[in-house]
Amino acid sequence: MTQLAIAERLRATVGEARLQSLLQAYAESRGAILPLAVLLRDEGVGIDDDVVTWIAQTCITSTAMVTSALSAFPELMNDPDSITVCDGLSCRLMGAGYVQRLLRDRLGSDRVCTSPCQNACSSAPIVQVRGTLYGGLQEASLQALAQRLEQPERAS
Ligand code: FES
Repeated sequence: MTQLAIAERLRATVGEARLQSLLQAYAESRGAILPLAVLLRDEGVGIDDDVVTWIAQTCITSTAMVTSALSAFPELMNDPDSITVCDGLSCRLMGAGYVQRLLRDRLGSDRVCTSPCQNACSSAPIVQVRGTLYGGLQEASLQALAQRLEQPERAS
């Protein structure tokens, strides 16, 4: 997606006023890096090099600054349609490895990725799909989630 297309898509979906409001909400424009990345993710725009460059130009900063800020939130860098299994310690102790294997077997390896702790450890193991956390997954609920995710139109 070109940088112009990114800007046009955001203006068309969230509106110029909301976009400007977000950009002006921070004393330093680079404060808008993460809110912009979240907005883009919510709009289904994957974060690629063009998007990083557009965020950098919009926030009047460098691509290195944007990449650095986003690196702490790998879930923002993933394809918005990907399924993220938390790979933090609590989730691993509660069976995240099994969750990953089952989801990869049923949905394909390319759709399933991992993330660091999602700060929902008391509900481990955690799976995130389009910003929604599914926690406390056990065999029956995991199978049900996998079945829903096999039908993309019903997964979100
Ligand atoms: S380790 Fe998975 S939510 Fe904390």
